[in-house]
Amino acid sequence: MTRRHLGVCYYPEHWPEELWTEDARRMVELGLTFVRIGEFAWSRLEPARGDLQFDWLEHAIDTLHEAGLKIVLGTPTATPPKWLVDEMPDMLPVGENGRVRGFGSRRHYDFSHEGYRRECARIVTLLADRFGRHPGVAAWQIDNEYDCHRTTLSYSDTVRRAFREWLQRKYQSPDALNRAWGNVFWSMEYGSFDEIELPAGAVTELNPAHRMDFRRFASEEVARFNKLQADIIRARSPGRDIIHNFMGRTLAFDHFDVGSQLDVSSWDSYPLGFLEDRSDEGGEWKRRFVRAGDPDFQAFHHDLYRATSGGRWWVMEQQPGPVNWAPHNPAPREGMVRLWTWEAFAHGAETVSYFRWRQAPFAQEQMHAGLLRPDSVEAEGFREAKKVAEEIAGLDLPRGGKSEAAIVFDYPSAWAWEIQPQGRELDYFRLVFDFYRSLRRLGLSIDILPATTGDLSDYRLVLAPGLFAWSDVLRKALADYEGIALIGPRAGSKTQDFSIPGAMPPDLPESLPGLVVSRVETLRADVPVSVEGGGTLKFWREFVEPSETETLLAAHDGWPVLSQRGALHYLAGWPDGTLMRRILERLANEAGITTTWLPDGLRIRRDGRHLFAVNYGDQPCDLAAFGINGKALLGGLVLEPSGVAILEVA
Ligand code: GAL
Repeated sequence: MTRRHLGVCYYPEHWPEELWTEDARRMVELGLTFVRIGEFAWSRLEPARGDLQFDWLEHAIDTLHEAGLKIVLGTPTATPPKWLVDEMPDMLPVGENGRVRGFGSRRHYDFSHEGYRRECARIVTLLADRFGRHPGVAAWQIDNEYDCHRTTLSYSDTVRRAFREWLQRKYQSPDALNRAWGNVFWSMEYGSFDEIELPAGAVTELNPAHRMDFRRFASEEVARFNKLQADIIRARSPGRDIIHNFMGRTLAFDHFDVGSQLDVSSWDSYPLGFLEDRSDEGGEWKRRFVRAGDPDFQAFHHDLYRATSGGRWWVMEQQPGPVNWAPHNPAPREGMVRLWTWEAFAHGAETVSYFRWRQAPFAQEQMHAGLLRPDSVEAEGFREAKKVAEEIAGLDLPRGGKSEAAIVFDYPSAWAWEIQPQGRELDYFRLVFDFYRSLRRLGLSIDILPATTGDLSDYRLVLAPGLFAWSDVLRKALADYEGIALIGPRAGSKTQDFSIPGAMPPDLPESLPGLVVSRVETLRADVPVSVEGGGTLKFWREFVEPSETETLLAAHDGWPVLSQRGALHYLAGWPDGTLMRRILERLANEAGITTTWLPDGLRIRRDGRHLFAVNYGDQPCDLAAFGINGKALLGGLVLEPSGVAILEVA
């Protein structure tokens, strides 16, 4: 029997010890399996250098363990204590404006600072030696939310030194770097690596190749920081899962790199905060889903992070009620906390853990809900978690295999789009998310693949929108692929050195796409290009010269929009919703995938023999009306707003 689990984030150091036993008892009674603790507790673990105070933590772990809970122990490195910062103030990160980002909140450290890395290694070693084999410790969380508060990039002296060394290793000579970056332009040539500054503070636009290398460097530094801790823990805490908690729409470092060092990826899901804070949709959409969240945003990240560590993943922090950090912080509609939890299970989560157990009456997050109110009375989220706990107890939910369709997602492409967008609305995440949303409205289940994938043969349909530079592995996988593939817009539009490819884009073997992109333009949102048969290209448009392709769709001015050579399709722009639907319906049908157009709040996911359905909308939905039937294991064919159903399907 494959069970799914619930957990909660808990801060024993925030509460008198007398409360711990009762809290643990209530957690177990609620049906929780996991409890995450410790990730911000450095000042209590080591109030002054060398003054180790681990007994309270041991007592907390014992208390939780004796109650029957499994502990996820956090390393406290996201919150270095004041004495440590005072010992080496140059560990603090520096903003792009040159100002030091000081003590007083969290994440105040430079990933590259060797002194701080040594301190992290020291405290993590001590913790892993002390608790690594404790029977109650089931897993570790390393640090907390890399890049939270935009902390991947720092412009400190430490980083400048490390970046210069990185460049030296990569290019060997200043001449090679000058050539790769095109520094003859505007007399930007360097005579030595020591002359190279961080890409900030110039009069106008910096060289994109300079910025791109800085993004690569910074991303590698995050992975190097994570690996330092992962190696220490792995050696001292055998059999325990190593986890990190990623965030929503956070692209500053390559999550596939960090994920490859983890046993389990996890992420922190705050649907209402994200809708307010991180969605490109307009006011009407936001009003409609204000208490539900965007119907695709959570699912996208579930699918993305499932891919980052080979399939095993959790939600480490699940929004339980109103949060404190978005422009507005509404309360979830009744049933949504339960829906969000079930949706994560539908996408294969092993565990969903709520943030946090009890609302803190003090400090920065006192306005952030917990499962309990500050006075320990059950809050709304508690009751919904309880319902899920009862529901999962009786259900055997083995995880199924692959989905029928896949989307390639690539962090370096996101950096490249950001560095040279060529138009205000152009954003890689936004583009990929448009494709994702349309596939989901067509009723498809989706896997996300890294751009280093060497074999696409598990999928009938593969999309790689907006992929700037292609690895040799993926080029070969695409050449060997026999399913239906869609690439573009902007496919292979740059070399690895951030230049326009010699033979013009796409930078792929000529035998693959059979066309050349000869010119591009970006468009005002109110001046789209209309396409024959319905729909438009928005924001971005390419003029392609076909040599060996058939034009499947053309713009009214005659230029090809969708071209085909064998099973490979090239899309020459950014389709609006209507055109996107036409294109994806057509490709799915060519791939032999059945589609159905779902209402904008209803979503389904197929996982093996189970079909999960969730209703983010505010109207009831009858699944049978969309050709969906099966034996109901949870809920029924009619989903009320916030409704969830699991069907056993053929
Ligand atoms: C996350 C973070 C938590 C807490 C939470 C509030 O970003 O990991 O520590 O701050 O947000 O929503």
